[in-house]
Amino acid sequence: MTKIAVFASGKGSNFAAIARAIKKGRLDAELALLVCDNPGAPVIQRAKRLKVKVALVKKENFSSREDFEKAVIRHLQENGVDLIVLAGFMRMLGAELLSNYQGRILNIHPALLPAFKGSEGIKDAFTYGAKITGVTVHFVDEKMDHGPIILQAAVKVEEKDTLESLETKIHKLEHKLYPEAIRLFIGGKLRIEGRRVRISIP
Ligand code: GAR
Repeated sequence: MTKIAVFASGKGSNFAAIARAIKKGRLDAELALLVCDNPGAPVIQRAKRLKVKVALVKKENFSSREDFEKAVIRHLQENGVDLIVLAGFMRMLGAELLSNYQGRILNIHPALLPAFKGSEGIKDAFTYGAKITGVTVHFVDEKMDHGPIILQAAVKVEEKDTLESLETKIHKLEHKLYPEAIRLFIGGKLRIEGRRVRISIP
């Protein structure tokens, strides 16, 4: 069974959605670890409630990103992690993690990449006046919100939408799309060819 580590720094609604998908038998996986870099993050309480192991690793406790990532990798190895799932982890990954888990790190972004990268994807799309935005799940590479795209789904920005209502729609879609992308990964259905991810459909 695939052992997943979710990396998160904040609320953890995607963490909870993945946990739900596993519990309902929609994902043949185990939530082996939460890696969190923010001691005040609500996701920690969610993990504790669900009895998921938490590795709290604060960047300030390490003199370099390399040392920080080596410590993270030790936690991953101790827990036999096969797949890393970034869910609102507000930190770029460096060479240590990327080389040790090449092709095994996913990220979710609340916009249709390559538009509106960064930490405010929903607000940036709304403020820009986009009529269509959405959600992207992609493999992680060394650049921010950049690696090969696995799945995307669109959301219409309606006349009546406020930033808050758009956030609600996007998060709802994220909670559906992320487990779906993870299911494809676990099932061995994804093949990276350059920038393109080929999905094999049975
Ligand atoms: C999600 O909306 C995710 O797409 C976003 O952080 C949020 C985390 O929410 N990630 C990015 O913006 C990455 N650039 P959550 O803690 O409730 O899962």
